[in-house]
Amino acid sequence: MCGIMGYIGPREAVPIIMEGLQKLEYRGYDSSGVAIIEDGVLNVYKKVGKLAELKNQLNGMTFTAMSGIGHTRWATHGRPSDVNAHPHADCQGRFAVVHNGIIENYLPLREWLISMGHKFLSETDTEVLSHLLEEFYEGDLVQTVLRVIDKIEGSFAMVILSLDEPGTIVAARQDSPLVVGLGEGENFLASDIPALLAHTRRTYILADGEIAVLTREGVQVIDQFGNSVEKPVFEVKWEAAQAEKGGFDHFMLKEIHEQPSALKDTLSGRINPDGTGVLLNEITMTPEELKNINKIYITACGTAYHAGLVGKHVIEKLARIPVEADIASEFRYRDPMIDDKTLLIVVSQSGETADTLAAMREARRRGAKAIAVTNVVDSTVAREADYVLYTWAGPEIAVASTKAYTTQLMAMYLLALYFAERRGTMPREELKTVIREMKKLSDKVKVILDNCQAIDKFVAEYSHCGSAFFIGRGLDHTVAQEGALKLKEISYMHAEAYAAGELKHGTLALIIQGVPVIALATQQALFEKMVSNIKEVKARDATVIALAMEGIKEVEKVADHVMHIPSTHPVLAPILSVVPLQLLAYRMAVARGSDVDQPRNLAKSVTVE
Ligand code: F6R
Repeated sequence: MCGIMGYIGPREAVPIIMEGLQKLEYRGYDSSGVAIIEDGVLNVYKKVGKLAELKNQLNGMTFTAMSGIGHTRWATHGRPSDVNAHPHADCQGRFAVVHNGIIENYLPLREWLISMGHKFLSETDTEVLSHLLEEFYEGDLVQTVLRVIDKIEGSFAMVILSLDEPGTIVAARQDSPLVVGLGEGENFLASDIPALLAHTRRTYILADGEIAVLTREGVQVIDQFGNSVEKPVFEVKWEAAQAEKGGFDHFMLKEIHEQPSALKDTLSGRINPDGTGVLLNEITMTPEELKNINKIYITACGTAYHAGLVGKHVIEKLARIPVEADIASEFRYRDPMIDDKTLLIVVSQSGETADTLAAMREARRRGAKAIAVTNVVDSTVAREADYVLYTWAGPEIAVASTKAYTTQLMAMYLLALYFAERRGTMPREELKTVIREMKKLSDKVKVILDNCQAIDKFVAEYSHCGSAFFIGRGLDHTVAQEGALKLKEISYMHAEAYAAGELKHGTLALIIQGVPVIALATQQALFEKMVSNIKEVKARDATVIALAMEGIKEVEKVADHVMHIPSTHPVLAPILSVVPLQLLAYRMAVARGSDVDQPRNLAKSVTVE
């Protein structure tokens, strides 16, 4: 995720900003920049690549500015490049803006601003902010920021430097973190606490809708109506390493907790304002091409493949197109039947996985069109595919994938609805219901994260076990596979996922007294069958922890422990049911003392076949 650093005070701003940005490097980024006011001119310096590139550019220059803003960008709208890097200025160079988040309605705003004569230099959503400031400014920066906020939709942490009011820095927050650092005769802004620790431990954590006005002398916080807000000072007690993880013990746990906001970002700008349909401007297939698709292959590796399995279920169910989900390392060697009516969907967090890339190249060589679902803008998979749907989950640092998976699922739902709508396979009312439920998923994930105490009890009892089984039917089976993979890779406990009805064809022999079985039973239509399977393993004295949707009471009669997820449309259950399984794997790994963020033998990006 992008990093922000701002400074106003009596010291030279550039070294302070550069040092702050360096402290945010762990968050991942692809370009960086700073803006300062010197001798009555707003100067912006920015560079693609690592901070060292920007440092090289600044090397040998002398700066006297005592206020400024800086940014490390992780690309979402527009590839990593010098021009797309932040800060972004307006036409006259009077405002510089750095921004984290996504401005959902940037396209109509951009069109409107262009019609008003504004000239855009970058492909970013952020640049509309500097031009809106220019358009609305009438001598009061704070009032102008309030007006701009009123016009924009989406998530933002934005920080603004203005030539007209050089003694002030204004910042605003909605759904994207921003922290004020309180100094003596100087003040700071950052997207994350590690950037502030060298200077102060006294902070204001801005809340959604709040605006901070920084001068050398002090910081005023107001709400979106301009009313003053009394902020309690938050004294940071964390050490630097813990602060990088936002106070969590591991990046994996932090990323699990980032899922509510990541899911919102994936949906951002992709639903009609009236909630009646899906907008995927990035898929520019003609209606004819869409109609002609007679088969879809989804190919990927590991967790991304598990997202593909959910994609298969939902696309077949909602859009009625036959789909095969394939492990990428198998796909290219099995002579798949592909022609120009075949669509390939590749799923890859990193966009660099060698097997996935090779599978896509092979399918395209045989005439298929490819949609890439990826998290990394301008990655190789993104560059080579015909169409790209970015997941906008923000960088994932832990090796074990969590927020990348749930956002990949969200992308699968968007694609399924997109095909269903355009091919007319879904009643309009049902489409609207699924969309309405998709929008609620982020809040429901939060509910799960706040209520997961049952997991601790289970972990305390079973962390010594050698083996665990995950069972489920249909969509639940796909999530069971992801749950088992998570448990294996970070806790090193042997785990297997089975289609619940398949157990009795062999694997049941391994189910003996005390073996933990995690049974997913979120699908009402398959519930009775799942109850029979739970009874089967209970009859062999296994201990069953069941995962069911709220309201399904009968499960308590058959399972030893029950975890509930909030109720939702059945096709959407995987986004919710995987969260307790991620937490289960995490807690088990901690209890067993393994290295959660860097599990043995594994790498984040697998660029060899
Ligand atoms: C497991 C995990 C891996 C990746 C797989 C594909 O937690 O992260 O299974 O999902 O290596 O990586 P990407 O998605 O980058 O292609």
